[in-house]
Amino acid sequence: MEQKKGTAHGIHPSFLNVIKQRERIKGKLSGIKNKIGVYSAKGGVGKTTASINIAYTLKRMGFKVGLLDADIDCPNITLFLNMNQKIDISHFPLRPIEKEGIKIASTAMVVDDEKKPIIWRGPLIAKMLVDFFENMDWGELDYLIIDLPPGTSDAPLTIMQLLDLKGFILITTPQRIAAINSKRSGLMIKRFNISILGIIENMSKSEPSDFSKELAKDLKSELLGKIRFDDSFRNMDIEDQIPVLVKDNLYENVREIMSKIVKN
Ligand SMILES: Nc1ncnc2c1ncn2[C@@H]1O[C@H](COP(=O)(O)OP(=O)(O)OP(=O)(O)O)[C@@H](O)[C@H]1O
Ligand SMILES: [Mg+2]
Repeated sequence: MEQKKGTAHGIHPSFLNVIKQRERIKGKLSGIKNKIGVYSAKGGVGKTTASINIAYTLKRMGFKVGLLDADIDCPNITLFLNMNQKIDISHFPLRPIEKEGIKIASTAMVVDDEKKPIIWRGPLIAKMLVDFFENMDWGELDYLIIDLPPGTSDAPLTIMQLLDLKGFILITTPQRIAAINSKRSGLMIKRFNISILGIIENMSKSEPSDFSKELAKDLKSELLGKIRFDDSFRNMDIEDQIPVLVKDNLYENVREIMSKIVKN
């Protein structure tokens, strides 16, 4: 068959690069059994809060866990966890920093002052993510939890293209706008043929909202559970030295949600 100029078997060369990079990353991350993204295109719905609680819950359930802050320009995990250690970038491969047995990596650990704005274009954001995957020694992990930024572009796109994921947990809140944006996220995930492991309604009232139920139905997914709105959570970034999970009632709450995912 005649091959078109600049293509291999009709596939665009840049796509071939993505495939090669994906294979390389798959090899580098072969010690990680399950990679799970925590995502919503809507900002502020609690992706970071849920990621941290999911990671600490899985750790407490007995798994080896890593936590990656894929929010490259507004990294918040270190703020929530009150961490100020830096990754030694002169040491190769790079190593995540451990906190209470969880291996954590974030852009905040490689910039001088994480509270200053990080103003990077898309390619640099993708490069940083690739560094986290290709040049970081995560060792053996049962789960790597990846906290995504909002939006449907740079970082989410890079993660969906390059990682061999178990799937995504979608976060929504009881509001209509949150559900609409989570649906956008869900449709993007489906475009990449990646699984939606389920949906968590955060900042919940006593019953899940009809918008969240509708979202689960539309995406043919499951509403895994809810995390209640709790006034004390909003202060965890400022006051507490430890994540909210140590409140035992939330541990049980998230454990119930994660048990459904661990089973599959
Ligand atoms: N269940 C909850 N009850 C009360 N406050 C919450 C709850 N979940 C999250 N918050 C608070 O809401 C704010 C936004 O949460 P968080 O940063 O986790 O959202 P996000 O989706 O990661 O945001 P971004 O899109 O900016 O990354 C934080 O101040 C957090 O402490
Ligand atoms: Mg966040």
